[in-house]
Amino acid sequence: MRTRLTEMMGIKYPVICGGMMRLAYPPLCAAISNAGGLGNLTAAMYSDKREFQDAIETTRSLTDKPFMINVTLLPSIGIPEERYMMYFETIADEKIAAVEISGMPLNRYAGGVYLKKLKDAGVKIVHKVGSVRHGKSAEKAGYDAVIAAGVEEGGHPLNENVATTVLTPRMAEELKIPVITAGGMANGRSLAAALCLGADGIMMATRFINTLECAVHEKVREEIVRRQENETVLYGNSIGLQGRGLLNDSMREVLKIEARGGTLEEIFPHIAGALGDEIWQKGEVSKGLIAVGQSIGLVHDVLSCRELLDGIVKEAEEALASGLKRFQEN
Ligand SMILES: Cc1cc2nc3c(=O)[nH]c(=O)nc-3n(C[C@H](O)[C@H](O)[C@H](O)COP(=O)(O)O)c2cc1C
Repeated sequence: MRTRLTEMMGIKYPVICGGMMRLAYPPLCAAISNAGGLGNLTAAMYSDKREFQDAIETTRSLTDKPFMINVTLLPSIGIPEERYMMYFETIADEKIAAVEISGMPLNRYAGGVYLKKLKDAGVKIVHKVGSVRHGKSAEKAGYDAVIAAGVEEGGHPLNENVATTVLTPRMAEELKIPVITAGGMANGRSLAAALCLGADGIMMATRFINTLECAVHEKVREEIVRRQENETVLYGNSIGLQGRGLLNDSMREVLKIEARGGTLEEIFPHIAGALGDEIWQKGEVSKGLIAVGQSIGLVHDVLSCRELLDGIVKEAEEALASGLKRFQEN
């Protein structure tokens, strides 16, 4: 299956992993790349240059295939300016295949010097956006591709709440650069649908949590299989940063606080990153922010990354063929 995305990134399958704080470590990143997709290493998990370089080296010791680094450019996550500079300098020096930017556009950061530096180093630059106007401005700024992230996605969908099914074809209509669909993508049917909507590939995150190579507690995997597509909620509009998370005790509390006009100080303890290890490593799924998307309803098992990606592409080919057959029969 060849698309502009596979050609651009030098990968076998048009499937890439989204940034995942506390989960997108070298073993998962490398396993996805080795399986033919594009793995993701999430920069925000590394606070100094040595640690960051070690993570890149470890990934390279596990795969000789291309991978991507996520840099979340959001002032509200509290990463100091020097750290962002270190990420961009290192990504350029290490000539990483691609960078996924979310949040602020890179052309508006530090006068655009890092956009130029990364481009000069041959790093492909991809921006995750939730609106056509942000996609157009990324294209104008010289980005290589955009990720069209619909409201179904885990993490922080844009508060315009446009669904993937509309956002993807709108982006494909308006942009010349490749569009990658994110949000609601978890299997071969998703990939087939995204291609039909005009995308050159898909990004998934939630689905990759339930792979053997993602280091999470067994209870997390069971919870992801157990929960359905109607069990995530949007939160955070009252504090200026919308997010999507699994409905659990903490999320119920956050929604109550927001409904009565509570403050960030009241909300923060329920969604703080400090709870992350309790969730992912100890399997304490009733508390804290579990930033999964509606695609959780499509996750029914735990597979190796290779089984997952081979299966997705095979199922996509079958779905495309069977869709055409149904169309011709009627
Ligand atoms: C556990 C988790 C953590 C995430 N952390 C980040 C992050 O640090 N930066 C980012 O840009 N996106 C983050 N995301 C969003 C994903 O990269 C991706 O855009 C989104 O999850 C796609 O939707 P899906 O999960 O339904 O596949 C995260 C998603 C999940 C599930």
